[in-house]
Amino acid sequence: MPTITINGREIEFEKGKVILQVALDNGIEIPHYCYHDGLSIVANCRICLAEVWAPNPRNDDKLEPIPKLLPTCQTPAGDGQVVYTNSPKSILNQKAVMEYLLINHPVDCPVCDQAGECHLQDYSYQFGRGQARFAEQKIKQPKKDVGPHVLLYSDRCIMCTRCVRFTREVTGTNELIVVGRGATEQIDVFPGIALDNELSANVIDICPVGALLDKDFLFQQRVWFLHKTPSIDGITCSGDNISVEHNNGQVYRLKPRTNLDVNKWWITDEVRYGWKFVHDENRLRLPALRGEDPYDMIEAPVAYDAAYEKAVEGFSQARGIAALLSPMLSCEDAYLLAKMILEHEPDTMLAVGPVPHDGQDKTFPGGFTMYAEKAPNARGVKRVLAGFGKVLDFESFLEQIGNFNTLLITGNYPSDWVTPDLVSACTGKFTVVIDTLPTKLAASADVLIPGATWIEKAGTFENVNNRLQAFERAIDPIDYGKSEAQIALDLMARKVGETPRVYNAKSVHQEMAETHGMGEFLTDIHYPTGGEAVESDMEVVEL
Ligand code: SF4
Ligand code: FES
Repeated sequence: MPTITINGREIEFEKGKVILQVALDNGIEIPHYCYHDGLSIVANCRICLAEVWAPNPRNDDKLEPIPKLLPTCQTPAGDGQVVYTNSPKSILNQKAVMEYLLINHPVDCPVCDQAGECHLQDYSYQFGRGQARFAEQKIKQPKKDVGPHVLLYSDRCIMCTRCVRFTREVTGTNELIVVGRGATEQIDVFPGIALDNELSANVIDICPVGALLDKDFLFQQRVWFLHKTPSIDGITCSGDNISVEHNNGQVYRLKPRTNLDVNKWWITDEVRYGWKFVHDENRLRLPALRGEDPYDMIEAPVAYDAAYEKAVEGFSQARGIAALLSPMLSCEDAYLLAKMILEHEPDTMLAVGPVPHDGQDKTFPGGFTMYAEKAPNARGVKRVLAGFGKVLDFESFLEQIGNFNTLLITGNYPSDWVTPDLVSACTGKFTVVIDTLPTKLAASADVLIPGATWIEKAGTFENVNNRLQAFERAIDPIDYGKSEAQIALDLMARKVGETPRVYNAKSVHQEMAETHGMGEFLTDIHYPTGGEAVESDMEVVEL
């Protein structure tokens, strides 16, 4: 295997990679702005330049310096090369580039959303001069509203052109362009065309400075207060890897998590902004019983006690149970709910809830696909229920529901999902509903128990390509909601008069494999890789 030496460290590398890639893959920091793994290489920012020595084949392969500094983002790594990014010549270039980029850059870090995750700020500390020599008036550039999700603060832009290349190469929509020349050059939208495509907000993530800003996150939170929890798209079947960024039980934003096997570096705007229902003011917060005054059960333990008692009583007296488990649930939720209900009635009819679709799948020129199926785990719920026996789809469930007098129905959709067919089919039957938002069915249920969205629990989803992926709990359930898995465990314990087990995904996987032959939950789940969390290097004092 060829080897290269970067800053004194000898590294083996695969042919075809550039020096910067080899360095980054091996944990060596080389400053870079314009380079991005998912975009073409333009080498226009010049901060990654380094001193390179290479064997000269015309001089017996003697190591000789290449006279000019080379852009490491564009220079292929070669066998026997020796690279110095910390030599006096390289450092001088880094300082010069930083000084040049900061000449017209406003010193507005205290009011910039990017502060704390800004490459310009970071490199300024690491590679900058620490002092400005530019005493003249800075050029002022305008702020622009470039699309439904994105604002452009032009005077913070360093003209790396990542955003322009994104709209050319990934979405193929070409909304962003470079206009002007020299110091007055700026990014703009093509006249009359807004930055409005299904992936538009990814430009915010790839902008290395605070020039492209998220309207939804604008001035909402300093990024160093945010905790990042690795998660999976909980809105569509994509299985896109995301990071839920939250503080004090409040979600502030979702960001893509790089996974070259799934979503690469991107997510759709639908996934990015689709979490708002988690904090919907109408979220179901306490269990309720039909005909009971909600103010009699204002205390959560009382309400749960009464709801569990009534549900278990109803299931025990049932003459046939049908259970509709939503494709929004995790595999573990579905497994425990199915197990619980089958303990009451071994012949329970199991079905997967309605799987919403919107339009057609759409693949962008860069290869990213946006899916029409708007549920994260239809395949996972079906897989789990199949481990217990026959599984019906929603239409067959509606056809056969007349044979049953007791129902367990779960929702957890981001908006009202209940069809008039379902409401009328449930009328007159003892119905237990577990859901997160109010619906007609929730209002008419005999027992209503508040569930938890995927952001409020840990579990596993199976995506459109049958990939099982684990996600972690980012925040606690809103108010007194509980994960469906925990509700199932509580109901199982209530039936036999025992103390309920606390839900733990790992032990559920063990049980699924041992008792229902679902060994894939021990071997095939992809867990998030670590290294996301960024620890502050200084003590943060909240005033
Ligand atoms: S707006 Fe951001 S991504 Fe676009 S060219 Fe400027 S600095 Fe680069
Ligand atoms: S990262 Fe190499 S020139 Fe910009």
